Amino acid sequence: MKIAVLASGSGSNLQVLIDQLHRDTTCDIEISVVISDKRTAYALTRARQANIPIHVVKLRDFPNRNAFDAEISRGIDEYEAELIVLAGFMKVLQPQFVQKYRNRIVNIHPSLLPAFPGAHPLRDALAYGVKVSGATIHFVDEGLDTGPIIAQVSVPVYDSDNEESLHARIQIEEYKIYPQVVKLCAEGKLEISGRKVTVKET
Ligand code: GAR
Repeated sequence: MKIAVLASGSGSNLQVLIDQLHRDTTCDIEISVVISDKRTAYALTRARQANIPIHVVKLRDFPNRNAFDAEISRGIDEYEAELIVLAGFMKVLQPQFVQKYRNRIVNIHPSLLPAFPGAHPLRDALAYGVKVSGATIHFVDEGLDTGPIIAQVSVPVYDSDNEESLHARIQIEEYKIYPQVVKLCAEGKLEISGRKVTVKET
């Protein structure tokens, strides 16, 4: 299956997906395009190094969010991607886009949703004083980080933590679970019933 990865930043999750899925000849997953809203995102360098086509779509080049999303959609369709994997993509996709790719968009978020959705989950979790945080992988729906949860993993939060140290601990776990979940999804092994996501019995 061809998948599109959308990334705004360093792309360390993208790298894990390249190494564990795209380069694995025994698994039928190809990252056919990496799309970014930032021309300077290191994720694009990672894609180039792996010979994966890139598509840059900058918000300021479009009159509104739907036009921006439509250009992202054009890239996805041009490269025949059937699954959209958000890996540190920091723009909120609009309902029209979500409806077009219903149940085919997955996102990873560095908190235990529904706690701390939005743009500053690490800062918010530390400010709240939680003792445990983690990462959540979920299908994307029309809300902000509200879609059905596929997988979660927790990590401890220490008194000495800052955003950077907490993020580093969470990312170690992200790298373990995201490739597994993307593989399950690409292989059609996930079943969604309302808010519940289960792995199909074989
Ligand atoms: C990841 O930790 C991911 O959970 C987070 O961005 C980081 C991207 O890192 N995503 C969000 O905050 C989405 N709201 P990376 O570019 O090194 O993969």
